[in-house]
Amino acid sequence: MDYERLMSEAITLAAPTRPHPNPRVGALVLDAAGMVVGRAAHEGPGRPHAEVVALGQAGLRAAGGTLVVTLEPCDHTGRTPPCTASILAAGVARVVVGAVDPDERVSGRGLARLRAGGLEVHSGIAAAAVEAMDPAYFHQRRTGRPRLTLKAALTLDGQAGAADGTSQWITSAEARADGHRLRAEADAVMVGAGTLAVDDPRLTVRLPGYRGPQPRPVVVAGRRPLPAGARLWERAPVVLAPGERDCPGEVVVVPGPDGVDLAAGLAALAGRGLLDLLVEGGPTLAGALLRAGLVQRGVFYLGARLGGGVGLPGIAGHFATLAAAREVELVSAERLGPDLRVEFFVKEQ
Ligand SMILES: NC(=O)c1ccc[n+]([C@@H]2O[C@H](COP(=O)([O-])OP(=O)(O)OC[C@H]3O[C@@H](n4cnc5c(N)ncnc54)[C@H](OP(=O)(O)O)[C@@H]3O)[C@@H](O)[C@H]2O)c1
Repeated sequence: MDYERLMSEAITLAAPTRPHPNPRVGALVLDAAGMVVGRAAHEGPGRPHAEVVALGQAGLRAAGGTLVVTLEPCDHTGRTPPCTASILAAGVARVVVGAVDPDERVSGRGLARLRAGGLEVHSGIAAAAVEAMDPAYFHQRRTGRPRLTLKAALTLDGQAGAADGTSQWITSAEARADGHRLRAEADAVMVGAGTLAVDDPRLTVRLPGYRGPQPRPVVVAGRRPLPAGARLWERAPVVLAPGERDCPGEVVVVPGPDGVDLAAGLAALAGRGLLDLLVEGGPTLAGALLRAGLVQRGVFYLGARLGGGVGLPGIAGHFATLAAAREVELVSAERLGPDLRVEFFVKEQ
């Protein structure tokens, strides 16, 4: 039996789902002769887990067969009963697992229970591909914080705007549409107080035909008063602030030495089920997050323009010595209309 190919099929089932704060999980059930008799993905909190749905489809045909599931089955009662009990009751002979669940309530226990029940268990099959299908889930369960993607639209020479604060048309319509696709993948989109004041963003996904969920807006507030008429207030944002604030949305007070304690603010977002966070600037917030080691990934759109001189830096701060530069691993660089899209992972220091 080609476990890798079956796991890749299970990954394909789970990849398009939006179940956060739960993980994306896909499952296949094969009967004793190797025919697929059940296939499902987990749809989100309170909904049945993928392996239970797939076993339900298989019914009696699961007996003596194989369950292929992208993530270790749970062995605890949450909003739904433990999956291990359903698997043992279904009478499969073999369970093929992609990644071990980093969630401490599950990790290793699901596999141990299945082995103790006499099943043949294979784990770690295409584990890297499983993790790449839902990196935010794995990051959040390991660190307690959302996985952070930093997005910026910059001139080819790395500037986020002109000295007069104008920045909106650095990149083309194609690049901006791609930015909306990033929003569609995110659970939350964050901006700093400076960007809120200057750009008055809505932070919504505006793509033709898009009917998916809108990401939760998040504002990082500082000392200055927040603009009373901002369009974002209609969307009930989470406002991370260094002290009490009187504004619409949910204010979370997380004081730090330089305004908001960013690590604590991110943990508060994870506590609200927001695992995949897109940060859209501005440069001050981007620099602070990067220096605090809180950025995992970047998507930079480089517009076909040269700013020259000193406008708004792409990432603010003081670049004193080369040793201070964060190393990144390039994932891709491609043309988008007249612009470039560069995606990278920030290396751990
Ligand atoms: N090209 C692009 O991709 C892009 C994207 C976004 C924005 N922009 C441009 O960038 C400009 C605004 O950026 P900005 O750098 O002035 O502001 P910003 O990064 O949006 O917001 C920074 C502000 O957040 C508050 N804050 C609270 N805690 C903080 C912490 N721990 N670390 C950092 N900031 C904290 C502070 O507010 P207080 O000052 O009130 O204390 C700080 O000044 C606008 O001109 C906008 O058009 C460009």
